[in-house]
Amino acid sequence: MKTYRECIEDAEKEGVAIGHFNISNTEMFWGVINAAKTRDLPVIIGVSEGERDFLGARQALTLVQSVRKDLDIPVFLNADHTYSYERVKEVVDLGYDSVVIDGAKLPREENIEMTKKCVEYARSVNPDILTECELGYIGSSSSWFDDLPEGAAVSEELLTRPEEAKSFVEAVGVDLFAPAVGSVHGMSRKGLKPKLYTERIREIRESAGVPLVLHGGSGSSDEDIKEAIKAGISIVHVSTEIRVAYKEGLAKGLEENPDEVAPYRYLKTAVSEVERVVGEKLDIFSGK
Ligand code: 13P
Repeated sequence: MKTYRECIEDAEKEGVAIGHFNISNTEMFWGVINAAKTRDLPVIIGVSEGERDFLGARQALTLVQSVRKDLDIPVFLNADHTYSYERVKEVVDLGYDSVVIDGAKLPREENIEMTKKCVEYARSVNPDILTECELGYIGSSSSWFDDLPEGAAVSEELLTRPEEAKSFVEAVGVDLFAPAVGSVHGMSRKGLKPKLYTERIREIRESAGVPLVLHGGSGSSDEDIKEAIKAGISIVHVSTEIRVAYKEGLAKGLEENPDEVAPYRYLKTAVSEVERVVGEKLDIFSGK
């Protein structure tokens, strides 16, 4: 089976991106795995601090490792948005495949200091682990919003600049970089689609010198996402859209089976809705 690094290298060469999907429970997990398996594509399962607290940090890892072994598909586990050294240490010690060290809200020097300390620790424990950092604020909540998150970098002057990406990546030594290029976490109730700045992505890929990750993948137009991938995005994160799919699938399952008490029956539509949305995203990311 290909390693995480090899899958990213392949994606770059082929001009496609790997999908990263956040899960909170095993229904969402199976929805993601079913979609990836049907298409024979690598996939990254993401768990934020809150998702790890709910599902169990160690149990999420066991799920991923067992599927990797049993189904023989490249599935990796990412500790998404991890805000402190202590929480980075926890997932590194458990054996996660990658970690997002999120100091985006800290002043630059503090962000560098924290990220560097985490990267050094991660590599000392597991030389194969992939580390990622963020620069630029794109909101922090994967939920519906009426107005754009305050302070989010959605206009050209607030986006990550190529030269600051370069100096930041050099200072902290990460493997992957997540810039602010127009996307935001969450999704607009009014159907507002944030614009992705593809030219900026191209410039940042060149200057940063490491593969790029697009966070805030929900709510952007399919065309923008395809252009962003062509410009140099290798991994796309999606959370809100599959949270919505899960909730709608659950509501449907309960409505269609009012007297049913077996969760494995009324939760089927929750799994299939997640699978449907993840499948649509994977088709876009893989250029189908
Ligand atoms: P969305 O909730 O906008 O899809 O963003 C997800 C994300 O970037 C998780 O890291």
